[in-house]
Amino acid sequence: MKPLNNPSRRRFLSQAGIGLLAFAGLPRALQAMEGMSSMKTFPARKASANFVADVEIELYSQPATVAILPGQSTRVLRYTAKLIKGPANSLTDIPGSYLGPIMRFQTGQKIRITLINQLDEATIAHWHGLHVPAEMDGSPHYAINKGERFVYEFEMLNRASMNIYHPHPHNQTARQFYMGMAGAIIVNDAEETNLNLPSGEYEIPLVIQDKQFDADNQLHYLGHMHDKMTGFYGDRILVNGRPDFKLNVASRAYRFRVMNGSTARIYKLAWDDNTPLTVIGTDGGLLETPVHKPYVMLAPAERLDLWVDFSGRKPGSQLVLRSRPFTGALPHMAERMMGGGGQGRHGMGMGRMGGMGMHHGHDMNNTVSADDTRMGGDYPILTINVTRQVSDSPKLPATLSRYPHYSLHDVANPKQPVPLAISEGPMSMLINGRSYADNDVQAFERIPLNSMQLLEIFHSHSGGHGMMGGGMGMMMSMAHPIHLHGQYFQILSRSNENPSDDYNTVKDGFVDNGFKDTVLVMPGERIKIIKPFQDFKGLFMYHCHNLEHEDMGMMREFLVE
Ligand code: C2O
Ligand code: CU
Ligand code: CU
Repeated sequence: MKPLNNPSRRRFLSQAGIGLLAFAGLPRALQAMEGMSSMKTFPARKASANFVADVEIELYSQPATVAILPGQSTRVLRYTAKLIKGPANSLTDIPGSYLGPIMRFQTGQKIRITLINQLDEATIAHWHGLHVPAEMDGSPHYAINKGERFVYEFEMLNRASMNIYHPHPHNQTARQFYMGMAGAIIVNDAEETNLNLPSGEYEIPLVIQDKQFDADNQLHYLGHMHDKMTGFYGDRILVNGRPDFKLNVASRAYRFRVMNGSTARIYKLAWDDNTPLTVIGTDGGLLETPVHKPYVMLAPAERLDLWVDFSGRKPGSQLVLRSRPFTGALPHMAERMMGGGGQGRHGMGMGRMGGMGMHHGHDMNNTVSADDTRMGGDYPILTINVTRQVSDSPKLPATLSRYPHYSLHDVANPKQPVPLAISEGPMSMLINGRSYADNDVQAFERIPLNSMQLLEIFHSHSGGHGMMGGGMGMMMSMAHPIHLHGQYFQILSRSNENPSDDYNTVKDGFVDNGFKDTVLVMPGERIKIIKPFQDFKGLFMYHCHNLEHEDMGMMREFLVE
């Protein structure tokens, strides 16, 4: 039978929305159909004549090769960009990195970004953290095909903050992100400028990622079904796209803008000499006052603004930022299989759980030392060498920012929080008991425009996976970084009725004041947040930012109307 002459098959293909078959090539399209059955693509968007941009950028998504490890270079997918109009510092490349250039904007600027898709597949760029109209948010609905363009036009309404741009096509977000497509968006405003925080060479963006390379230095991704359930974990930590990241500093204060750019890995950041971390901001910008922490948990897509003062450290001294041991973020069975305690990197079964092992081809001594890079292990992230002595350093401001505190008096629904129920099953990670689907907004997902809402995120151990509910749910319980598109929220409360020993290994690492767009929810936790839904009607996603979970369908949307 010749499939292309078969009318029913042809009808099936066109109904499935695979009109691009002619471009994509038949076998590839058929192969991709499983994941793409619901990926409709958007017929490109053009610039509008009456939008006068202060900054105009062309953003390209494209395949490339980049030298990351010694030897063969690595095939990646990446963003590059060209400044068409606006201040020269609107774009800064990170030399030698596959990461997209850093975009810098001012609050109030009008911005036009044209995404030009040079990948061999559909994509769309999302501005994680930005408060933009639904049609400009880069949700899966707007994915464009190879060769197409999408023109974004929006005004920067955010306060000073570090945000993320990354792909968001349905089912393909995690892989495209992992293959290299991500970048930082730094927003400045007058309040922050007046503080005179360390800037220029003293303000350092740090994007932390984990990757797994095969013997030919190529990125390995998703070797096993388990990888989807637990999330994918690489054995090699990269910072700003570089392995074994080292930074030379002067003996003065710096501002580190840290982003977790991993698909699934959670970090427990701490200095190796136990100096407390000084946190001045999170996802949504500066805190009111600095906060000192023994360690900070940083889940995928979360950001951290750190004040790091090397004053008084002698040239020649060294400081290492590490991820410290913790447990309970993965189902216990998975944690055991990844090799706890003394088993370390070569522990039994680790490869299967994504830690290591599928590709033992390359030189092990070449990886990040003999540390234990399973998630929850103890391993270095970056090394700082003090190389210059200076006598002058800025002082940490006692007050950083002023902003309103959202309270129950502000919300439309103080007694009936909007639920975000997490349910975990062997093959399904769900939110509010349903998988992501087009046109599936439920009654509780309709939000009145310009309202402030109370939302409650919790683990639901019943329903969502039928017979398997209850006990199975408990066994599968794991951590989820929950992200909401649109405006930042504030965390009202975080509680855990049955804190376990595991919980004690993470509980002092949350920075819950300030503005957030992603919150790490540990097993057993119940988190209440307050979020405004202002200015823009339409669909806004909420999902797990463990990107493997997101692509499994742990994603829903609110309809603001
Ligand atoms: Cu980081 Cu839906 O996004
Ligand atoms: Cu987002
Ligand atoms: Cu999740």
